[in-house]
Amino acid sequence: MAAADLLRPALLAAARSPRMERTIGKVPVTRNLVDRFVAGDTESQAITATTGILDSGRYITIDYLGEDTTDLTQANNTVSHYLVLLSNLSALATSGGTPATFPPSPVEVSLKLSALGQSLARDGHKVALENAHKICTAAEEAGAWVTVDAEDHTTTDSTLSIVRELREDFPTLGTVLQAYLKRTEADCKDMSGPGSRIRLCKGAYKEPASVAHQEKTAVDDSYLRCLRILMNGQGYPMVASHDPAMISAAMQYAEAKGRTADEFELQMLYGIRDSEQLRLVGEQKHVRTYLPYGEQWYGYFMRRLAERPANLAFFLRSLASRN
Ligand code: FDA
Repeated sequence: MAAADLLRPALLAAARSPRMERTIGKVPVTRNLVDRFVAGDTESQAITATTGILDSGRYITIDYLGEDTTDLTQANNTVSHYLVLLSNLSALATSGGTPATFPPSPVEVSLKLSALGQSLARDGHKVALENAHKICTAAEEAGAWVTVDAEDHTTTDSTLSIVRELREDFPTLGTVLQAYLKRTEADCKDMSGPGSRIRLCKGAYKEPASVAHQEKTAVDDSYLRCLRILMNGQGYPMVASHDPAMISAAMQYAEAKGRTADEFELQMLYGIRDSEQLRLVGEQKHVRTYLPYGEQWYGYFMRRLAERPANLAFFLRSLASRN
């Protein structure tokens, strides 16, 4: 087994450790690497980065960082940040830079329900639903789309049921499915009807073998099966991957099904394969960049280190050169 495969579970476990968060957060060099993946702490920094992405011909989805909230005040605080963000995005849309026509909407926000209260011991499901409803209302007024992120498998049933409820009021609401989960092929079949909007990713959490494929080849095969279901369905597939094999399969399946460039999109994370994102825009493909901002970058950052040994090696070298 490669060193990266051995390290990955440890890094993903560390991503959920408050003690490791305190330790790593105190190391000054961490910030340089974090800045590669996170657009800043504030709404104003997120909007500056967003303007650059939109000007390059890409679409945007913005995530206010935070997860696993167990405090109601913090969940409400997250909602306030989204409302400020959306009022700024609305101003951006009306300033002429961004057409607010549908579909597809160039501007979107992404939400983690665990940041909106889903993990609260009392009424977590209800609080997250109400908070997400407030954000969806503001997004609709701003002419922006909303997509709900996927977190660890213990939240999947609750998340999909909240998404179903919200879609009754907000039919453009999208959600993420993770190809590493064994259930996802069936979820794709259920959720590929008219008007559905599914962002398909491989999956970034530490999951047991009972629910998730563990080997890269099994995850990739599952991704391809799920992608084919979505592309052959009647919804709007959002292909969230940096993997050239997944991207080229997406183009092939779309072409075989006769989908135009407006009928699916490619998505990548801020700071990852930037030149490839621009190359695909040059080929007239819709590319959306997922742009995270906010002070609670730790869990997101650790998942990015776990995905790519080169990022981890760079981080460790930076630490060593400081000592
Ligand atoms: P894979 O990991 O096989 O990487 C393929 C290639 O991409 C690598 O060889 C490398 O070149 C490049 N690459 C990948 N990761 C990199 C990194 N961190 N740094 C530098 N290069 C890298 N997950 C989840 O569980 N829930 C969610 O809601 C989301 N949401 C989401 C939205 C969007 C728009 C994207 C693109 C991804 C997510 N993810 C996610 C993360 C996803 O599950 C997955 O962990 C990463 O995208 C990495 O998987 P790839 O498909 O890119 O392939």
